[in-house]
Amino acid sequence: MEKQSSVSVVLFLHAALLISTCFGSKSWPSKKQVALFIFGDSYLDSGNNNYINTTTLDQANFWPYGETYFKFPTGRFSDGRLMSDFIAEYAHLPFVPPFLQPGFRQYYGGANFASAGAGALVETFQGEVINLKTQLKYYKKVETWFRHKLGDVEAKVTLSRGVYLFNIGTNDYISPFLTNSPMLKSYSRSRYVEMVVGNLTSVIQEIYSGGGRKFGFINLLDSGCLPGVRIIKPENNGSCLKEVSSLAKLHNKALSKLLIQLGNQLEGFKYSLYDLNSNLRQRIRHPSKYGFKEGKTACCGTGQFRGVFSCGGKRTVKKFELCEDPNEYVFWDSLHLTEKVYKQFANEMWSGRPLNSKSTTGLYSLKDLFQDL
Ligand SMILES: *[C@@H]1O[C@H](CO)[C@@H](O)[C@H](O)[C@H]1NC(C)=O
Ligand SMILES: *[C@@H]1O[C@H](CO)[C@@H](O)[C@H](O)[C@H]1NC(C)=O
Ligand SMILES: *[C@@H]1O[C@H](CO)[C@@H](O)[C@H](O)[C@H]1NC(C)=O
Repeated sequence: MEKQSSVSVVLFLHAALLISTCFGSKSWPSKKQVALFIFGDSYLDSGNNNYINTTTLDQANFWPYGETYFKFPTGRFSDGRLMSDFIAEYAHLPFVPPFLQPGFRQYYGGANFASAGAGALVETFQGEVINLKTQLKYYKKVETWFRHKLGDVEAKVTLSRGVYLFNIGTNDYISPFLTNSPMLKSYSRSRYVEMVVGNLTSVIQEIYSGGGRKFGFINLLDSGCLPGVRIIKPENNGSCLKEVSSLAKLHNKALSKLLIQLGNQLEGFKYSLYDLNSNLRQRIRHPSKYGFKEGKTACCGTGQFRGVFSCGGKRTVKKFELCEDPNEYVFWDSLHLTEKVYKQFANEMWSGRPLNSKSTTGLYSLKDLFQDL
């Protein structure tokens, strides 16, 4: 035991030496790097909510979050890494730090603005999350940083080489069911979807006008089938909540349509679109085909499907059970996925065939977007 650990210390020192020799004193990532800017919700939040005044409902900075890969809680809503962490790795970037993490930083590698619980509408979990509009405001600060560093012209060129990854909307559609907010009752369903997609569109257009050209989108999962949503109506006996799933479906149609439009309208607009909806549904239905034992019940939580959002024992309900091996599960907690499934999605998103492939203008895989087009 003793001997083994000293061997690994030596190995570690060697590795550290090797890294510092390879990269020398160069700051890394450099301004030649294609940056990754991340917007959205808990599926991409690497810890911004650790630094806002919110509740444990929107935080994951306690055990057992992070237990497998990091061995400590980082604020990520998973046992380990998220899709965006794998995308950064494939793009040869270090982990993209949360924008709100204190400390001096340079942004040549990008920044992560995502916030658990956030939606495209400011009303979604209002006061407890960093909504998409505020995420854009933070991005504007980063734009200013680039202009100070590089000048207006070179900043715009550098920002145009960056990739802008989005996962947003699920909270807009599930929050009315989780909180009894009147938002969904005040509008028709199609008008509500129009508002969500409209607010996302404004953010895309703002980024585009600052120079952004390459966008990665993830469509909305079948949110009615989340363990935490299946249990909202006990009389449903645990089947997927159709009202919620159909909103996600409407949204996804509108998103596909929007991207085809933007591809035709905006000069130089390039995008990828990952079909999270059908790829997650496949794994819920046929977990063993993808290397999982359980597709419906979460690893961490309590109650039917472990759908009660209690993982870690720091939220309203304190009781929770934790599975032995998260790698056997699709769902990590009642609303989020395990690192294993996030990695599968990141792999497909990186090089797989994107959705919307009938449209031609501007559609790429994420990998293509990172190659300097
Ligand atoms: C944080 O939010 C709580 C509840 O809304 C409030 O009472 C408290 O003053 C806030 N704290 C800060 C530092 O803003
Ligand atoms: C954005 O959302 C707000 C509600 O938060 C709505 O009133 C507004 O019309 C939406 N904007 C667009 C462009 O759809
Ligand atoms: C729900 O499940 C119970 C027990 O399995 C069954 O008796 C009941 O008929 C089911 N209800 C519906 C609406 O499917």
